[in-house]
Amino acid sequence: MLILGIETSCDETAAAVVEDGGRVLSNVVRSQIDLHEPFGGVVPEIACRAHVDVITAVIDRALTEAGVSLAEIGGVAATARPGLIGALLVGLTAGKAIALARGLPLAGVDHVQAHVYSARMAPDPPAYPYVCLVASGGHTVVFRAESPLATAALGATTDDAAGEAFDKAAVLLGLSYPGGPRLAALAATGNRTAIRFPRAFLTDPRIRFSFSGVKTAVLYHLRGQDGAGGGAAPAAAARREDVAASFQEAVVDALVVKTLQAAAQQGIPRVAVTGGVSASLRLRERFEEEARRARVAGQAVRVHFPPRALTTDNGAMIAGLGYHLLAAGQTAPLSLPAVPS
Ligand code: KG4
Ligand code: ZN
Repeated sequence: MLILGIETSCDETAAAVVEDGGRVLSNVVRSQIDLHEPFGGVVPEIACRAHVDVITAVIDRALTEAGVSLAEIGGVAATARPGLIGALLVGLTAGKAIALARGLPLAGVDHVQAHVYSARMAPDPPAYPYVCLVASGGHTVVFRAESPLATAALGATTDDAAGEAFDKAAVLLGLSYPGGPRLAALAATGNRTAIRFPRAFLTDPRIRFSFSGVKTAVLYHLRGQDGAGGGAAPAAAARREDVAASFQEAVVDALVVKTLQAAAQQGIPRVAVTGGVSASLRLRERFEEEARRARVAGQAVRVHFPPRALTTDNGAMIAGLGYHLLAAGQTAPLSLPAVPS
């Protein structure tokens, strides 16, 4: 069955056509970077208006690129939560309108659960059950996934999400929005052992993260107030690329250690790493390295990543999980509300 997936929870207008929850026929993402860049971050009102402007064109293009017409679509899936309320409403309302006009079943998809599911859309997906880290701009959560529709949160961040920390540290480094990928690019040329930034909860048996401390440590370091720069002027404290690389290493360390700890606690030697931050090449490298060394249930841990096009926000993962909701009879009513949190 072909599902049309629609995603507008934040600053990407996205639509995709996916067959049977796995084969991606098209995956169109229209970024709003140019609109938010002058403001240094996502402006909710601008995001909603931009979604309204392009949603129809993005859906049309997803159908065209897939080479199908609406008559061939078997169901519509749209992100219903969590996200910016005005932004969510645009995609969800578009989905409802198509479902109503064409007499199609509607699925209301949880965006974070769709990130968990995105790992299953890789050419080499993890078998169930798997432990899944979702590290995005809004969420940092470790799940145990039993099936597409049955997951349990094992732990989460106690303050900032990992992507949020990347974005905030990027601002401190004078990088423009979107900060995460720009900081990661700067970090690639830096020395990741230059500064030892804090890693929270590494030896704590509970699965939890904290990224506000490392962000503050970057601020103090840049001000030359952490002693590392000897009280020197900010510019002399360290090269910006070294700060970026050392910051990234601290965040990556915490994500890798706590996720592998969760896998060990669950006795599951399969880990998936999803969400926007999983686009970080250093994160992927460190996960591969540490997983090889780890032993869970007598085996090395296998790490799975979604295809890169499915790491940041996209409609394909929404269509993917939407297929399973519809197959299980979990059709949403047209009164389904958008829920921000
Ligand atoms: O999953 P996503 O597209 O949206 C949310 O659901 O939040 O994740 C976006 C987040 C942003 O915070 C962005 O800075 C971060 O992912 N991100 C990265 C990279 N690419 C995107 N963080 C680190 N390295 C990257 N290469
Ligand atoms: Zn996301």
